[in-house]
Amino acid sequence: MDRKNLIEALKSPVEVKNGIYSNKYLALADKIRHENVGDIVHLRGLIEFSNFCERNCLYCGLRLDNKNCKRYNLTETEIIKYAENAVKLGLKTIVLQSGENSIFDTEKMSRIIKEIKKFDVTVTLSLGEKSFEEYQKYKEAGASRYLLRIETTDKNLYKKMHPNMSFENRVQCLQNLKNLGYELGSGMLIGLPSQTIESIADDILFLKEIKADMVGLGPFIPSQMTPLKNEVAGDFLLTLKAIALVRIMLPEINIPATTAVETMVKSGRKIALKAGANVVMPNVVDYNISKNYAIYNNKFSNEMGIKETLDLIRKDIEELGRTWL
Ligand code: 5AD
Ligand code: SF4
Repeated sequence: MDRKNLIEALKSPVEVKNGIYSNKYLALADKIRHENVGDIVHLRGLIEFSNFCERNCLYCGLRLDNKNCKRYNLTETEIIKYAENAVKLGLKTIVLQSGENSIFDTEKMSRIIKEIKKFDVTVTLSLGEKSFEEYQKYKEAGASRYLLRIETTDKNLYKKMHPNMSFENRVQCLQNLKNLGYELGSGMLIGLPSQTIESIADDILFLKEIKADMVGLGPFIPSQMTPLKNEVAGDFLLTLKAIALVRIMLPEINIPATTAVETMVKSGRKIALKAGANVVMPNVVDYNISKNYAIYNNKFSNEMGIKETLDLIRKDIEELGRTWL
């Protein structure tokens, strides 16, 4: 599909009836997903280990200027313990995510990665923009995947949303990660204030151009504790179509059904899994801690235990006639 086709597809109507979402691109994406990556849904254990952040992204509740965010750092021992527990519960990939901060320096991160690698699992990082050398050190320590969303390819919007950050540096980071041999995850927000359909089509073309191996996207959800608190949320149906189009354009990649999708619509995760997605990233940190990773309000998280949450997700997947790994 070219830009024009993508724009047309993003504008196409979705019929919703009895919880069934009908649109030819969603159906095509589901078929392409089945043919290219099969029916296995990959589960990744997400450890949000620090919500300290030195950035000020306008949309995010973890932004530096939000003084109402209760900040926490897990200790190295706690992080490793959570990873071990997740592995015991059958997870094969651990995702280490944090706000962008320098508390967890290269040495500390490398130690944590090495310890988790001892459990014989894949380690994915999502720590934001770092230098080439830092990315290299993490790679040497054993990390093999990195998630860094481009957020939007509309440069003016990027600038407005990200004070004191540079679009060019973000692209450079993505290139550095790719050059270092990481499996590269990226993605965008859908429905940022003044974001256009055209720019979402450009985002999809950009993800193809950088050869993303994984694409995570979700609706923008206004957070009470940010300057965007009174803005309109991203559209769920547009998000679904964007997921489907990413699958159609990049048939072999991994696409998570994100937390933002699940937060916005009940069973959003299942709906996304039927529109091209093939990954779920359950949080594996205790609720009383992870609830403070408040990117936006009412972020879907479960007061249930980690095992119970995993059981529920696995049941959802089986209900779709799929299997999990
Ligand atoms: N709504 C939805 N997603 C958000 N993110 C940050 N703030 C919000 C929000 N208000 C996403 C960003 C970031 C990821 C970790 O969370 O895309 O890359
Ligand atoms: Fe920090 Fe990431 Fe939130 Fe931006 S989106 S404020 S970098 S945690």
